[in-house]
Amino acid sequence: MNNDTHLRVLGISGSLRKSSFNSGLLRAAQELAPERMEITIFDIKTLPFYDGDVEAQGDPGSVAALKSAVRDSDGVLFATPEYNWGTSGALKNAIDWASRDQGQGSLMGKPATIIGAGGRAGTARAQMQLLETLGETGSVVMVKPGVMVQAFSPMRFDADGSLIDEDTKDLLRRHLDEFAKWITRLVQPGDFARYACEMDVETSGV
Ligand SMILES: Cc1cc2nc3c(=O)[nH]c(=O)nc-3n(C[C@H](O)[C@H](O)[C@H](O)COP(=O)(O)O)c2cc1C
Repeated sequence: MNNDTHLRVLGISGSLRKSSFNSGLLRAAQELAPERMEITIFDIKTLPFYDGDVEAQGDPGSVAALKSAVRDSDGVLFATPEYNWGTSGALKNAIDWASRDQGQGSLMGKPATIIGAGGRAGTARAQMQLLETLGETGSVVMVKPGVMVQAFSPMRFDADGSLIDEDTKDLLRRHLDEFAKWITRLVQPGDFARYACEMDVETSGV
């Protein structure tokens, strides 16, 4: 990959509500991303709860769609709300499903980053929790520069949940610029996946 490569980024919002600030952040990201980055948003609303019995029968359509969207992407941009100091159950559930894909291009070795908008802590605690979860999936998460948006006072989103604050747009633009470089630097995520899987086998003594 070089600095001209077209980058396909998958955006996933952890909030299901229509006027969500986090979904608004992703829409803003689509506009503010560097020219070579294309962000497609995947809606997790129709995913069932993870259930090993359902999985054993074969992935439901929405789950298969999520896995292939992750596989087809060069990186994943997670926008998380903060619910009781953690990420949303809906987003954790989506990641649990996606983490069950062991194929090439799965979350293992996938460049990822987290942004979020919420209350006074700007989703910092939810982002920390999500970072731990993504660590176990093998995603290679970019933490800096970071986008932790205090959505209220002053209101940084309009009634539809669209981002209206120019300083926040600058922050997001900068984060996406860095994410493009991050993805480009991780030249062979597939190699990382193979290495990480071997490491898993070695450490579990199988
Ligand atoms: C169940 C629940 C728990 C929440 N817990 C927190 C919290 O721990 N910290 C916080 O800053 N905001 C909390 N909030 C407020 C959310 O951050 C706020 O509703 C935010 O707008 C949700 O994101 P969204 O606009 O993308 O839906 C909570 C909201 C809900 C519904």
